[in-house]
Amino acid sequence: MDHRSAIRRRRLALPAAAVLLALGGCTGGVEGKPGAAGLRDGLFPRLGNGGYDAEHYGIVLDYDPARDHLTGRVTLDARATRDLSAFNLDFAGMEVTSATVGGERADANRAGSELTLRPADEIGKGERFRTSVAYSGTPRTLTDQDGSHEGWLRPAGGGALALGEPAGSMSWFPSNNHPADKATYDLAVTVPEGFTAVSNGELASTVTRNGRTTFTWHTGEPMASYLATVAIGRYDLKPVTTVAGLPVHTAVDRAAAKESAEVVGQLPEIVAWGKENFGPYPFSSTGVIVAPEGSAEYALETQNRPVIPADQLDTTTLVHELAHQWFGDSVTPRRWKDMWLNEGFATYAEWLWSEDHGGRSAQAHFDEVYAKPDDDEVWDFPPAEPPSAARISNKPVYERGAMVVHRIRRAVGDDAFYDLVQGWTKRYRHANASTEDFVRFVEERSDEDLTDLWDTWLYGEGKPKSP
Ligand code: TRP
Ligand code: ZN
Repeated sequence: MDHRSAIRRRRLALPAAAVLLALGGCTGGVEGKPGAAGLRDGLFPRLGNGGYDAEHYGIVLDYDPARDHLTGRVTLDARATRDLSAFNLDFAGMEVTSATVGGERADANRAGSELTLRPADEIGKGERFRTSVAYSGTPRTLTDQDGSHEGWLRPAGGGALALGEPAGSMSWFPSNNHPADKATYDLAVTVPEGFTAVSNGELASTVTRNGRTTFTWHTGEPMASYLATVAIGRYDLKPVTTVAGLPVHTAVDRAAAKESAEVVGQLPEIVAWGKENFGPYPFSSTGVIVAPEGSAEYALETQNRPVIPADQLDTTTLVHELAHQWFGDSVTPRRWKDMWLNEGFATYAEWLWSEDHGGRSAQAHFDEVYAKPDDDEVWDFPPAEPPSAARISNKPVYERGAMVVHRIRRAVGDDAFYDLVQGWTKRYRHANASTEDFVRFVEERSDEDLTDLWDTWLYGEGKPKSP
């Protein structure tokens, strides 16, 4: 297929062609053009932006829980992937108070959740440039197409909880908000003394001055924006311990300390088990944030340390969210439709944990799902083809995704299976991978012809004829 000529031919006729050209990045024009306002993700076309590659976010926040007021400044270091006259960040709500690119004032314009910055001087392809955006206001809570809430959440007892899957991070900092563009982070958040602010990575410093405390967190491994978090509340931030040399930062909502102690105590064992099964732990620290009861409708695999609302904390959920550190956080989906690579593996990790700890076998879990009638939700669509954004957290992605993994294990045998899993987390460590990458990888590394398995379990409509 020759995209170029098709686009060129349409260029004069259709205004949309200019956008296509920008998205494709396939011509080496001398004149900079605006970067695209979205990465053409099939399920979330507006998320992410074209024309640059984010490398590092420096985020400085000041939050006043009493007024529910946030002041922020983001310093983004990025590299232009084409000549740019302007580019976008995803940012929903609040007020942008100033913006600079390369130290010079940039023109800032907002339309919905697209923030367009037009620098004084054009940016050349390959150039590294620094953008700074200052903002303030009351951050939004976003409602997903499936009705769940994300973005900036307010637990009933006070404080705040920022969660970002799939889109919510844009409610508290401007970014290239798509999993395909991972970056490192430094995040400093100032809160009234007595509050604790927990985030990803490692705690670099805690400084209290004039009744305000600044917590500074450093994330040195690439992170997708949907995995960024900040939890502000009455947390017990435990002194750092280690699992085989790996620092553990654990924060537990004080009100939930007693009831969560036992499950939180299992974390070292779960991380050690994960390493044995999935390969080296991908990040320089781990832990968990046990958020206030009812603060979110779900747990989330935020990088380094998942957020689990106290009322959702149990061993299975902790296993699931920690498994995501390998599947999702380190090996990150290229597009949102590849999310079964996250949820299928994290669900399969639950089955494996059970099997390895005297519970039901993975096969028994598989059989239980397979026994569901033809019209059960689990057979609604193939795991690799979620039909809409509203349905990306539905059962086919989780349970049928896990069934795909189990069928691979059965096809190749246990030894080859664990080699494959560990090979996968190694090959795409700290990178992005698509379903096609996965299929190709498994085909290359195994001697089996798995065409039927993919056609039936990964891409097939309806309940497969035989288990
Ligand atoms: N990823 C979370 C988990 O399984 C669940 C989740 C929360 C989610 N919010 C979401 C999935 C939004 C998809 C979209 O641990
Ligand atoms: Zn999950």
